[in-house]
Amino acid sequence: MMNFHVLTLFPEMIMQGVGTSILGKAMEREYISIEAVNIRDYTTEKHGKVDDYTYGGGAGMLMQAQPVFDAYKAVEAKILAANNGANAGVKKAPRVIYVTPQGQTFHQGMAREFAKEDDLVFLCGHYEGIDERVLEEIVTDYVSIGDYVLTGGELPAMVMIDAIARLVPGVLHNEESATTESFDNYLLEYPQYSRPEVWKDKRVPEILLSGNHAKIEEWRLEQSIERTKKVRPDLYEKWAQENEEYFIKKAKKEARERKKAKKKQLAEKNSCNS
Ligand code: ADE
Repeated sequence: MMNFHVLTLFPEMIMQGVGTSILGKAMEREYISIEAVNIRDYTTEKHGKVDDYTYGGGAGMLMQAQPVFDAYKAVEAKILAANNGANAGVKKAPRVIYVTPQGQTFHQGMAREFAKEDDLVFLCGHYEGIDERVLEEIVTDYVSIGDYVLTGGELPAMVMIDAIARLVPGVLHNEESATTESFDNYLLEYPQYSRPEVWKDKRVPEILLSGNHAKIEEWRLEQSIERTKKVRPDLYEKWAQENEEYFIKKAKKEARERKKAKKKQLAEKNSCNS
């Protein structure tokens, strides 16, 4: 089981966001667990305050170090104490992901890497951010979900949890679908169709009705390549570099087909002349 721990000022937002659909089922079936820890519960300030003005001036408030640190320490203690069968007593401190536009951009490779962990801690900031000193103390990874700014870290944390959790064995029923989709090999997914065969005068491509699985796979790969080339030339370049043999194979196949067509043409010509 993989355990996600989210340090946040809005725990209900996290639990509502991840409690339904596939992740909700995965929690029920104990493939994953998700706990949202309210940072405010750990403040030593008597009015429950967790933020203050920024030294040096500037707009907005900053989340203070003390409540964030104590909330993290409580989670860390729980993780280290968890009796994990053969690993009892030898658990290491978890990776702590601070979700921030100042981080590296999240991608599928990172999701795969994080999915290997037993426990992951997400730290969600609000207001103008978090006191740098506590970040230095506890954060292992600074991760952004893209070049835009959101109002807080909860949505990015949920995005990452979703992408990571679906790679945990058992979470998706169809294991294959976690590995054959977009980005696993840099290619975007091919177009797909379901019933009816004709909708608004648009027919499902004939090849998909042929039952010829080898040909269907070939068609799907070609579609993926074309789509990626058009929509994400950056990804296409990466794929092309890693898949040189595809082009060699394709060139050989085309040469064979040209030869075959020429032979056929010649045979037809000869039969006409005789
Ligand atoms: N917090 C605010 N905006 C963010 C982003 N783009 N990625 C991660 N965390 C954020």
